[in-house]
Amino acid sequence: MLAVRIGHGTIIMLIRVPRAWEIPERETTAESVYRSRRELLTGAGFAGLSALLGNGLQAAGESPYPAKRNTKYILDRELTPEAVATGFNNFYEFTLDKQRVKDMVDGFKIDPWTVEVKGLVNNPKKYDFDDLIKRFPIEERLYRFRCVEAWSMAVPWTGFPISALIKEVDPKPNAKFMRLVTVNRPEQMPGIRSQSHYPWPYFEALRLDEAMNELALFVTGIYGKPLPKQNGAPIRLITPWKYGLKSIKSIVKIEFTAKRPPTLWNEVGASEYGWYSNVNPNRPHPRWSQAQEKVLPDMKIRPTLLYNGYEEYVASLYTGKEF
Ligand code: MTE
Repeated sequence: MLAVRIGHGTIIMLIRVPRAWEIPERETTAESVYRSRRELLTGAGFAGLSALLGNGLQAAGESPYPAKRNTKYILDRELTPEAVATGFNNFYEFTLDKQRVKDMVDGFKIDPWTVEVKGLVNNPKKYDFDDLIKRFPIEERLYRFRCVEAWSMAVPWTGFPISALIKEVDPKPNAKFMRLVTVNRPEQMPGIRSQSHYPWPYFEALRLDEAMNELALFVTGIYGKPLPKQNGAPIRLITPWKYGLKSIKSIVKIEFTAKRPPTLWNEVGASEYGWYSNVNPNRPHPRWSQAQEKVLPDMKIRPTLLYNGYEEYVASLYTGKEF
């Protein structure tokens, strides 16, 4: 068991911490099956067939997890233990109590699940999640994850680049932004009623060039398994150079727009939560100096990095003044 204190009010976590490095065993069998099948298809010149089969696992009805890790994205710290990342959550539609989210999601229905993509696109779509996961090849990436509350984790996410979906729906030339919306089910998400002052459903947005950035992922899994409900099942956003509040969970609607769409936290507190919410150690939040962060689970203090350490990937998107 582990007890942790967090600066803004005292929160004690009691979480069973497994071994410090709880990386799920890489099941080489699954990976080699994945690779050999794909190599077989592409090597034989059946690229079209390969695309048709998505990640290559659909035909046999096998699980796509764990997906092959993309080793391009390396960490400068240990992975957060799985029990911590899946037991300490922000998902206000359920509760504000980070440690109770996981206990309140049982009644949340994620199957069937449809993601509607509409607005300024040439190919609007309604994806059934089971099709979506087969359509875009998924991979694992290790990213730092920094919350505006000044705690951070390092998480193995599984998902696919948002750019793959954007290419498929083919935005019109006047599409400049992407709006994302969470499901709105008060009967399954008790926090929607108890936090009725928030403008539900949760909504977020990215500039189209941000969404096209190679780091931006639609995430469907974590620690080599499907995403648990408390982490935003069945599909959420991850933009590792931004504060975690941008990473909207349980997405059902994606809309391409010409005008910049509002975002929930920026609407409820514009002086505290910028529309961009890029991780920036030089711009203090009124409650949390952003210069440092507490790394879960042991809350060791580290200096916060500009763009959460992803400057080489994203700095060219910005003038540096965005908030
Ligand atoms: N998405 C929805 N729909 N509702 C939320 O309350 N919280 C955000 C983000 N996405 C939130 C959300 C915040 S503030 C953070 S820090 C991350 O989810 C937390 O993700 P995690 O619980 O997987 O660590």
